[in-house]
Amino acid sequence: MANRKYIVGNWKMNGLRAQLSDIADIAELAESHKDVDVAICPPVTLIAQATDKAPGFMIGAQDCHFANNGAHTGCLSAEMIGEAGAKLTILGHSERRTDQHETDAEVKAKAQAAHAAGLGAIICVGETEQERDAGKAIDVVCGQLEGSFPDNADAAWLTIAYEPVWAIGTGRVPEVSDVEEMHAAIRTKLTELMGKGAGAVRILYGGSMNGANAAQLLAVSNVDGGLVGGASLTAEKFGPIIKAAAEA
Ligand code: 13P
Repeated sequence: MANRKYIVGNWKMNGLRAQLSDIADIAELAESHKDVDVAICPPVTLIAQATDKAPGFMIGAQDCHFANNGAHTGCLSAEMIGEAGAKLTILGHSERRTDQHETDAEVKAKAQAAHAAGLGAIICVGETEQERDAGKAIDVVCGQLEGSFPDNADAAWLTIAYEPVWAIGTGRVPEVSDVEEMHAAIRTKLTELMGKGAGAVRILYGGSMNGANAAQLLAVSNVDGGLVGGASLTAEKFGPIIKAAAEA
């Protein structure tokens, strides 16, 4: 049986109070597509306000620390973002793996912390263009998945997002056959890592997904949804992706 589609907007470092109305508009769209799970991950500064503005709509964060508390200036624990209203968090995005030098071991610890705080976790994996050109994409992605994989993983709270680094924000999207091959490889790896429950773990595709290409990507075997950057910032752009998921 196909998994329920899951469409998540990653706002990255975009969004001030003025954009809360976009979250309300997106929440309204989600309300009319109840067969799809929809979430927006705005900057942390907007989480509490977004949950007030769109009660019942799923709001997430883009990172959390692996510790519960302590001397970590500028960081936020999973419990803190949960208290602000987040129901999930993205972890190990390639921008953080690059800019903040996050390691697989840290991502794993963060996922466990997120789960302990009652949050869902979306662990991101993806190869660079150089790695793909060298024929190493599947090895790299499966290696990241294994290294970042939390103990006691369960589809009830864990999601994987495959985001080829070279497709993020570039308007370039892999061939459908490459997406299919990678998502199948991730599914196989999940089965190796967690056994029977692996089929229910949703695997999202991310990287230049938009209203024009979403239907094609969401129809690919083992693509259970999308992690969307630029095209998640307004209801006008995000709406067609939610609709495509509902029809997939
Ligand atoms: P874009 O959709 O802007 O390419 O970003 C994808 C992404 O990084 C989502 O996490």
